[in-house]
Amino acid sequence: MAGADDLGREVFTAKATPPCAVCHTLAAAGATGEVGPSLDELKPTRSQILEAVRSGVGVMPRYTGLLTEEQIRAVADFVHESTSGN
Ligand code: HEC
Repeated sequence: MAGADDLGREVFTAKATPPCAVCHTLAAAGATGEVGPSLDELKPTRSQILEAVRSGVGVMPRYTGLLTEEQIRAVADFVHESTSGN
């Protein structure tokens, strides 16, 4: 699913406001943010990512209403697939 993967990467690095990459480290996206946990180390589950993106956690904003459902799913798949090794 190269298309969805590309969309997820785009959301991570650019389309989300603010972009996830500003705050998170994720090698697959070339991101080195240090405000939030390194997603490479955290290796979050898909549902953990969806929950964080939809509802926000701590200083991380909620993206419901800012991103479409398709974009939210794509970014969750992208982060999950690039950190879980499958
Ligand atoms: C303004 C900085 C910021 C941005 C932008 C941001 N995050 Fe976060 N994120 C954080 C911080 C800080 C935490 C840790 C919050 C806590 O545990 O209190 C976090 C936590 C997380 C977690 C772990 C949640 C958990 O259950 O522990 C995931 C997954 C995550 N972020 C993914 C994303 C994704 C995907 C995006 C983009 C759509 C994003 N973040 C954008 C700062 C940010």
